[in-house]
Amino acid sequence: MSFPEFYEIEVLKQLFDFSAEFSVAQSENYIVWYIIFWIVKENRGHIVSLAVDEEYKRQRIGSKLINTAIATFLKFNIFNVTLELRTENKGALDFYQLIDFKLDRTVSNYYEDDTDVFKMSFNFSDLKEDSKI
Ligand SMILES: CC(C)(COP(=O)(O)OP(=O)(O)OC[C@H]1O[C@@H](n2cnc3c(N)ncnc32)[C@H](O)[C@@H]1OP(=O)(O)O)[C@@H](O)C(=O)NCCC(=O)NCCS
Repeated sequence: MSFPEFYEIEVLKQLFDFSAEFSVAQSENYIVWYIIFWIVKENRGHIVSLAVDEEYKRQRIGSKLINTAIATFLKFNIFNVTLELRTENKGALDFYQLIDFKLDRTVSNYYEDDTDVFKMSFNFSDLKEDSKI
């Protein structure tokens, strides 16, 4: 398995039924990177999950994947994008803040394993001139 976290097939099927976008790169028998995102409401996009294999990190792949998701949302006139992030994931917090996602709040016991999450959001109106996005 390429990544320690995985989704049950039923969850993936549900996302597929909700017209979620899946983008995956595979090399031989392992996944190099993937992103899953979808439109939750008419005016809100949601990043379900994003991961880059250890060997390929810090090569701007994650940034490009987020750019692609945001560009897709824009085509649907969606200017607000949200995501949840485990609070222990400080590296990803830095990554998202660098590309202008805002930390909105912390939610306790969000996942079934009782992990706390940061709720983060991105709004085009908040985009800075020197944004890395
Ligand atoms: C978070 C993640 C997707 C970033 O992917 P990536 O391709 O390595 O990110 P990028 O190369 O586009 O990073 C862009 C910038 O973000 C910042 N950044 C990225 N990862 C970081 C980390 N672990 N710690 C601190 N800053 C980080 C850096 O400033 C980086 O620029 P630099 O390499 O020039 O310093 C990747 O680390 C990952 O897959 N993590 C595990 C899964 C995960 O946490 N997913 C997010 C929850 S949905």
